[in-house]
Amino acid sequence: MSPDTHVVVLAAGQGTRMKSVWPKVLHQLSGRCLIDYVLQTADSLAPETITVVVGHRGDQIRKHLGARRNLEVVVQEPQLGTAHALQQSEPVLRGRSGTLVLLSGDVPLLRPETLLRLTETHRRAKAAATVVTATVDRPYGYGRIVRTGGRIVRIVEERDASPAERQIREINSGIYAFDLEPLFDALRGVASQNAQGEYYLTDLVGIYRRRKLPVETIMVAHPDEIRGINSRTELAEVSRIVRQNKNEELMAAGVTLVDPATTYIDPDVEIGADTVIHPGVVIQGQTRIGGACEIQAHARIVDSTIGAHVSVNSFCLIVGASVADGAAIGPFAHLRPESAVGEKAHVGNFVELKKTTLGAGSKANHHAYLGDATIGANVNIGAGTIVCNYDGQTKHRTSIEDDAFIGSDTQLIAPVTVGRGAYVGTGTTVRESVPPGALAVSAGKQRNIEGWVARKRGTDVKTKTGKTATVKT
Ligand code: UD1
Ligand code: CA
Repeated sequence: MSPDTHVVVLAAGQGTRMKSVWPKVLHQLSGRCLIDYVLQTADSLAPETITVVVGHRGDQIRKHLGARRNLEVVVQEPQLGTAHALQQSEPVLRGRSGTLVLLSGDVPLLRPETLLRLTETHRRAKAAATVVTATVDRPYGYGRIVRTGGRIVRIVEERDASPAERQIREINSGIYAFDLEPLFDALRGVASQNAQGEYYLTDLVGIYRRRKLPVETIMVAHPDEIRGINSRTELAEVSRIVRQNKNEELMAAGVTLVDPATTYIDPDVEIGADTVIHPGVVIQGQTRIGGACEIQAHARIVDSTIGAHVSVNSFCLIVGASVADGAAIGPFAHLRPESAVGEKAHVGNFVELKKTTLGAGSKANHHAYLGDATIGANVNIGAGTIVCNYDGQTKHRTSIEDDAFIGSDTQLIAPVTVGRGAYVGTGTTVRESVPPGALAVSAGKQRNIEGWVARKRGTDVKTKTGKTATVKT
């Protein structure tokens, strides 16, 4: 832990430009809320305290944050600007000294390395404030860094900038290090005479310079990392950056992405070398995929573990499941949470598994519902097999032991067990357990009624003109 480092995250703004009922920092970027990115980066500093300033729908943010260690939530009500927001952290930080790192809840891509460089530069220079800046092609919307003789003298917001100042391409990232000593006293000197009538934190730079306190800057080489999200368009743009970074990381590690532009892989996903990902694939959450797999177009995999040499065919949905080495899934298969497919097992078209284990080498190739079932190794599940796991009140489990054969169109009324090597005939309704090695059949004996079709037609076949005709046989 760094005992003299404190972090404040500003997250009270309404995010008006998002046009949302949700606070901006709870919007998702590649599967995680904006604020979670920021807090993860903050954690890299191992600060003594982290304070999140909330306001607009603060209760929702508080709920999202839950019970985190070292985290204080303070409320800014009403929201009068970024300087006013920082002031709200004074009760938490009063009496403390050292460095305060200020982060913006809507700037998610900041790298831990940059934060480290910020605090190091700040301390080495014994600065009162250090501002993280970047030079960008499109500075529109950002505060501009105004320098004289190379030194930062103030920051001017877009709306308050002169036409000449608007030409400045060096922007304020909204990320700073402050010496705690003069900070809160200086904040009381910030006024709200500006285009928005808000208390701008950026005014602190001018105030410090007038008081002859040292203000430093560090510039990031890749402006992407300090992109702020103010609108849905920016959210989409930053999402694309996150995806691109992830795709590049995976390709560098030996994963083939047939079309990176249409591949959506969340940051925490891990994929082994020589796995091939086809267009339109979505891989989310905490998913791990082994090497040499083939994931065909338009599959979606969420929070799942996939072994090596697995084939996932098109249009599969796999959520919270595990698939062992060499298995083949799909097309059009649905693996629901707590399902486990064994080594070299097959799950084919329109097969749904829920809380079901399918043992090694077992096959369920066509049209089946397998829920709350434990299925052993080398079992064959025929087309149209349904596990009736729900009796209208409770769910029951079904067990199918190794080497059993379940004929097509079977219903298994849970709870039942089909014993090892047993055989269930086509069209059987299994209401009682089947002993190992036994044959179960329940369908009635077939009767063939000779000449039935013609006799039936003879009475009620209609002609094309709608008249009833009698067909002679
Ligand atoms: C701010 C900076 C601008 C910088 C940009 C970088 C100011 C005045 N301007 O502008 O120089 O280039 O960030 O992204 O600081 N917030 C509060 N309470 C408030 C207002 C805002 O907590 O009363 C929070 C917001 O939730 C957000 C952050 O502060 O997380 C920044 O606020 P925002 O309104 O987005 O500022 P920008 O206009 O982007
Ligand atoms: Ca912003």
